[in-house]
Amino acid sequence: MCGIVGYIGRREAAPILLEGLHRLEYRGYDSAGIAVPHRGRLRVTKAAVRVDELRDLVGTGLTAKVGLAHTRWATHGEPTDANAHPQVDEDGHIAVVHNGIIENAEQLRTKLTADGVKFTSETDTESLAHLIARALRDGAASLEDAVRTTLREVEGAYGIVVFDVRKPDELVVARNGSPIVLGIGEGEMFVASDIAALVRYTQRVVYLDDGELATLGADDFHTSTLQATRTSKTETMVDVADEDYQHDGYDDFMRKEMHEQPDAVRRALVGRLDERFSTARLGGLDLDPHELRSFRRVKFLGCGSAYYAGQLGANLVEEWARLPADAEPASEFRYRNPVVDPETLYVAVSQSGETLDTLAAVQELKRKGGRVIGMVNVVGSAVGRECGRGVLLHAGPEVSVASTKAVTNMCVSSAMLALLLGRVRDLSMAHGKRIVAAMAELPDRIAEILAAEAEIEAAAVRFASAEHMFFVGRVRGWPVAREGAQKLKEISYIHAEAYQAAELKHGPLALIDAHMPSVVIVPDDEVLAKNIGTMEQIKARGGPVIAVTNAELPDGLADVVIRVPRSEPELDPILFAIPLQVFAHRIAIHLGRDIDKPRNLAKSVTVE
Ligand code: F6R
Repeated sequence: MCGIVGYIGRREAAPILLEGLHRLEYRGYDSAGIAVPHRGRLRVTKAAVRVDELRDLVGTGLTAKVGLAHTRWATHGEPTDANAHPQVDEDGHIAVVHNGIIENAEQLRTKLTADGVKFTSETDTESLAHLIARALRDGAASLEDAVRTTLREVEGAYGIVVFDVRKPDELVVARNGSPIVLGIGEGEMFVASDIAALVRYTQRVVYLDDGELATLGADDFHTSTLQATRTSKTETMVDVADEDYQHDGYDDFMRKEMHEQPDAVRRALVGRLDERFSTARLGGLDLDPHELRSFRRVKFLGCGSAYYAGQLGANLVEEWARLPADAEPASEFRYRNPVVDPETLYVAVSQSGETLDTLAAVQELKRKGGRVIGMVNVVGSAVGRECGRGVLLHAGPEVSVASTKAVTNMCVSSAMLALLLGRVRDLSMAHGKRIVAAMAELPDRIAEILAAEAEIEAAAVRFASAEHMFFVGRVRGWPVAREGAQKLKEISYIHAEAYQAAELKHGPLALIDAHMPSVVIVPDDEVLAKNIGTMEQIKARGGPVIAVTNAELPDGLADVVIRVPRSEPELDPILFAIPLQVFAHRIAIHLGRDIDKPRNLAKSVTVE
């Protein structure tokens, strides 16, 4: 998704802006650009290139102490040089960078064109530059006022930074539905759409709220609403370091983050397992036992892998708390006019906390009086703030587009929530005790799986030439199969489909032949015999079988066996997902894919 960086201070702006863009590359983009004042005029360099190439185009010799920059992920208009940001007004005074989508862009463009304005791009953003310039010509008292006047005409989502070359001592920033964070330095201010661009320079940040504007100078800033009412902001220290955005001894972020999972899970569990009462302690929920007992259902909402993690969580809630529970893609939720039930606990699951579909689902729920908690990784993110309470994932910054440690921590956090809901109901002390003990061991079990990376790789590369693959699971194995297929398709581009084991015979079995390998999730649980039957059905049709299992299987049943250590059976899915990450990663490496920049994908999806 698009990335924004802005700087105003006493240092040379261009290198800081370009470095900031480099830190945002992981989010995915197709063009990049930068604008700084140079000898009294605006100097804009932008093209459909990578940030490194932009650096070459910018060159040296720019001494400006202020500027803005952008990485664009095309929505309105192709990824071309002209459509790259910053966008400027006709006189070349105003530069704008923008994340989000302006929904009434066509009307604004038609109106401006009728007034004689000549557009140079197909973007929705260019209208903003023209409107701001016009507001200034019409007598707006300041750049901030001109931006405010403009935004009153705009419908849609935006995070913007605006610069007027005639006023080089300020930047104006605004947010509505697209993240914007200010970074406070000594005699300098930063602005970005993601703290990744800032943490190299400062840990002191301020998050803008929707409908807020900020005017930044080198030494201070002030904020106000679209209605021009001043607001006061609290500064926060972010507990994230620059190293978190480097992949150290690893070739890619995905592998680094997979190997961080034992520590990430330890962080999620620390202080939250209550051995005395065999339950979980989740202070951020802010729900007393009486309230926890008042829920009649639980519904998890999330997108992509966060949805699959929610499905795993829903299974655990049903098993342990005996409450009806399910998961639903957040992307569909608001469009089907959902029945919002006051006795349901809604759980919004999101790594970034900025996924627009998940945020919109939360807003729909709140509008209808639903009780919703967040399960997010990024502190201060929109979903986290909108929910106001919940369970922080503590996975640490996740850079890889293919989510690993955050998804694992979503599963672990959902398990803690399910345990807590179970223990305020009828889950016995003895059962709770077994769960607590098994959860405490998860980091070591995950480390064991990761230590077998080479063996999983040997299995994986045998199938790297496959064009299609099935992932098959039953009951607890079903969300694991979905997540396994998701990881493979995202980074290897092999067509992977997940099926519920019993559904195979109702259609998909027709596709099984020697060229269709099936990864079958086979935990040693109540449905082991059924899963063995599934593998036999696949084998009988000549399909290769890759069994992921902690059971002893009959000889010759699977072509390849990937072993998983034992845990409490309910926690098996958390462990079974780990070798599938490694499986996908090794196949993608074997195929020479760019793991951290999978095609067409972005880290956080802040548009519809
Ligand atoms: C898959 C993946 C995506 C995200 C989804 C939701 O590896 O990363 O499917 O899970 O886009 O993102 P968040 O969790 O940030 O809401």
